[in-house]
Amino acid sequence: MILERNNFLSIDQIETQISSVLLQDQDLDLNQLIHLYMLRRSAINEIGTKLVNLDDEYSIAHHHNPIHLIEERLKSPSSLFEKLRRKQLPFSLASINKNMLDIAGIRVITNYLDDILRVKDVLSNQDDVKVLKTKDYLNHPKANGYRGFHLVVSVPVFLANKTHKDVPVEVQLRTSGMEMWASLEHKLHYKNETSAQKADSYTQKLGDYSQRINDIEVGMQQIAKDLDKSK
Ligand code: GTP
Ligand code: MG
Repeated sequence: MILERNNFLSIDQIETQISSVLLQDQDLDLNQLIHLYMLRRSAINEIGTKLVNLDDEYSIAHHHNPIHLIEERLKSPSSLFEKLRRKQLPFSLASINKNMLDIAGIRVITNYLDDILRVKDVLSNQDDVKVLKTKDYLNHPKANGYRGFHLVVSVPVFLANKTHKDVPVEVQLRTSGMEMWASLEHKLHYKNETSAQKADSYTQKLGDYSQRINDIEVGMQQIAKDLDKSK
């Protein structure tokens, strides 16, 4: 299993970035926002450790690693502010606390389809984890073909003088096939210089490929199960 931290800001980076975007929006207190980021960062560490432990246990007990890759990231303060603006939400600590549940994000790339629900169930059933929201894009793929399972969970974070009981983290679960598809679809979405005609044709192709990747992943999982049985 690989652990990647691409936009996993340090507390210093968080402070610098927040200070630079806060200027126009004076209502928010710098220290309170840094504190909120620090909590979300700790929550990533809590959930990340749970996932690593789970993968280790499976590899010992079942000779199977459900997780191929874990990516951890914090939403940059400028993306946070952009999202507040886009969703026309108040620029207040209470509003960020309540509405911005994806400041802490973990993407889990699994080896097989079944691993998605396995990881989701085992994580959700832990005593200190609460499931706040789920989005099932496995049984209900998006119109463009996007697949995966998203959940927002919360965990307690223990600080020196206080325990914050419910700190949210968004967890996205996908197979490697779904990850490959989503990366390309994301690229298409943000490449504005592509001609409209080409973009339409690619969108259509991607819709078809999503189905075909799924068919292949179902088939490969069946082979893996059969091989496990005959061991
Ligand atoms: P946001 O406002 O972007 O946070 O969306 P949401 O709260 O409605 O959440 P949703 O769970 O639908 O999507 C959250 C994340 O899932 C996105 O930021 C992407 O990382 C990923 N995602 C969702 N839909 C798509 C899609 O159609 N294509 C790709 N490539 N990624 C997607
Ligand atoms: Mg999001």
